[in-house]
Amino acid sequence: MHTDFLDLIPSPCYVLEEAKLEHNLKILDQVQKQARVKILVALKGFAFWRSFDLVGRYLHGSTASGIYEARLGYETLGGREAGKEVCVFSPAYKRQEILDLLPIATHLIFNSFTQWQTFKPLIDSHNAQNPSQEIQVGLRLNPLYSEVTPEIYNPCAPRSRLGITPSEFQKGVQEYGLEGISGLHFHTHCEQNSDALQRTLPHILKHFSPYLSQMQWLNLGGGHHITRHDYDLPLLISLLQDLRSHFPNLQEIFLEPGEAVGWQCGFLLAEVIDIIENQGKVAILDVSAAAHMPDCLEMPYRPSAMKLSHKTLEPDKGEHQAPFHYRLGGPTCLSGDVIGDYSFDTPLEIGDKILFEDMIHYTIVKNNTFNGVPLPSLGIINSDGDFNLLKTFDYYHYKERNG
Ligand SMILES: Cc1ncc(COP(=O)(O)O)c(C=O)c1O
Repeated sequence: MHTDFLDLIPSPCYVLEEAKLEHNLKILDQVQKQARVKILVALKGFAFWRSFDLVGRYLHGSTASGIYEARLGYETLGGREAGKEVCVFSPAYKRQEILDLLPIATHLIFNSFTQWQTFKPLIDSHNAQNPSQEIQVGLRLNPLYSEVTPEIYNPCAPRSRLGITPSEFQKGVQEYGLEGISGLHFHTHCEQNSDALQRTLPHILKHFSPYLSQMQWLNLGGGHHITRHDYDLPLLISLLQDLRSHFPNLQEIFLEPGEAVGWQCGFLLAEVIDIIENQGKVAILDVSAAAHMPDCLEMPYRPSAMKLSHKTLEPDKGEHQAPFHYRLGGPTCLSGDVIGDYSFDTPLEIGDKILFEDMIHYTIVKNNTFNGVPLPSLGIINSDGDFNLLKTFDYYHYKERNG
């Protein structure tokens, strides 16, 4: 990467690298074609809609957590009129949300029989009046098996809110039947390889096989780390093909990754504002873990970084591997607003830039204005290598959200 070029980018700024996004999309498309599945982008993880012309060239639509994401998917990637899916799952819908979703959703997935029964009359009447815009209805399963850690990310953790357990499903079927349900959904993965899916499918089949054989579609959720360099694509493709041959009734199979779409396709540029001393050097940046990269605290994890000093880019060498050590933290009052410990071969100076890598998914969508810290701008490096600044935020974005 040219460093002159980086000087043009205002700090802080999230920068999407279009060529890397397209690389991911091509891998996802390979899965679509070889396994005959449809892949939808999960907006909860990747909603950088100014890149959706490109995303829409490869993927079949979007998957949403509720009305706002569904609207965004519909407006920017397209809905059924454009041949795209707008799939929605919410742990609990309000009536007004369902009313707003009816004209735009292609699939509505419910988290309980109660919610489905509550809104069935609305959906049935929408479908009767708009036969060409029929909404497919599905139920989310909890197969009581997930390998995800930590527990905060595990949809099958004890007392989870997410998905219908096998015993509740059985009760629901006895009480209401499945007439009107055309699909099932499960989401039990997070950053996982296809071997986790291989171990999960037997649990789905053990608990839900008789129901699955009555369905027209199955959605395998997200968390499939398909674009990661060590992902076992042939295994995924063969699992999907097996599923089809066991359940020839399934006309469509969906996957809905967010992270795999935005994986490793951009960075967050930050600036070193000050460096203080407290049992080692602590650099204070113009980006915050709490406001701009919350997964660093929640997951927790430490993003890789490069420093840009005097036009030279230098990768970080791990926590203590190189001679110059720094704790990198944000400008908020949260004591734990710490991104991590880093070391470099040369000293860090005030005014240097830091590029945090892989910062496009689950960052921008989670940004907040805690402490009134300015939101990073959004930019893109297009496939010709040119930088375009797409969006800047100012004081009024903060003010509007607080009164
Ligand atoms: C229901 C559902 N679908 C899809 C996703 C996207 O998962 P990922 O971004 O890990 O691929 C999530 C993430 O939490 C989810 O809850």
